[in-house]
Amino acid sequence: MKVGVLTGGGDCPGLNAVIRAVTKSLISQGQCEVIGIADGFEGLMGATPRVKPLTWDEVSGILHIGGTILGTSNSANPLKSEATLAQVKSNVQALGLDVVVAIGGDGTMSLANGLANAVGMQCVGVPKTIDNDIASCERSFGFDTAVATATEALRRIESTANSHHRVMIVETMGRNAGWLALEAGVAGAADIILLPEIDYDLQAIVDVCQAREQRQRYTIICIGEGAKESGHSLTVRETIAHSPDPVRLGGVGHVLRERLQPHLRSEVRTTVLGHVQRGGDPTPFDRVLATQFGHHAAQLVLSGRFGRMVTLQQGQIGSVEIAQVANTQRRIDLAHPLLTMARDIGICLGEAAR
Ligand code: F6P
Repeated sequence: MKVGVLTGGGDCPGLNAVIRAVTKSLISQGQCEVIGIADGFEGLMGATPRVKPLTWDEVSGILHIGGTILGTSNSANPLKSEATLAQVKSNVQALGLDVVVAIGGDGTMSLANGLANAVGMQCVGVPKTIDNDIASCERSFGFDTAVATATEALRRIESTANSHHRVMIVETMGRNAGWLALEAGVAGAADIILLPEIDYDLQAIVDVCQAREQRQRYTIICIGEGAKESGHSLTVRETIAHSPDPVRLGGVGHVLRERLQPHLRSEVRTTVLGHVQRGGDPTPFDRVLATQFGHHAAQLVLSGRFGRMVTLQQGQIGSVEIAQVANTQRRIDLAHPLLTMARDIGICLGEAAR
């Protein structure tokens, strides 16, 4: 069997561990020929496909390295026109690919599903994201590493917050889901955690910060990039456009600082963690999970179970149909035990007093 492997969408720690595990399993169990496709689906969209053989030696020594040896792209859309679809189809035929293992997020799964329907390209999916927001997958590799990075940042921020008696806002990634902000916030001892799933009440945050000004004299706020103020009609972009000093604004962390500062004696500062959360070597947990995902993807390939994505549900590795997860997102359920726990131990989630 001839198998292509690609990584699509934003990168995350653990991609190389999956590439290694898929390739080694396919070579040792199925004597397959494995080729790597450069830069996600983009590598199949040109007149000449951009590919390289993935041999045992090629994937040795990459388990612990962040990023992806194959490269990735966020913007490649093979479904955009009949011409690109025809090009992808002819490249897949010319390469003699029986199936492509597509390692990516919901966007990549949606493209894999679309290509199966449009040109009959068979795919097996492997979910990846630091956001941990892929449907049917309770833990995606990359998330643990991102939580560790954001947690360390919060701990570093705390010592300087303490010295200067400041309110420090730390903005995490996570798109429209708050998993990263919640887990890093809990692990990094944030006093206030603001999530996209719960619109925050400014007064609730002011109250906590003012109370802490009297006692602890510093406050740590962890805010997910998708969070927004309750009843606030302006989006982040509009807030930036209306600001008298737009240069200092740039995301929800900066918007919150602008809103909060007039109510407090302490100085407020914002740190946006950004892509540092996506880079670096995967944690041991992510190396193991990514290896398990890659191994399972190879078993799906070898048993001809195409059109499926690897999952982790109730601690068990399994799979679901790619069509089932394409373009869906998993957000925090408001009854999630971590939210209850956070409230119970006095972490403010930005909820209005009842
Ligand atoms: O989905 C992963 C992610 O890192 C999100 O957390 C973030 O919103 C987005 O990608 C950033 O994308 P880009 O690298 O294109 O700026």
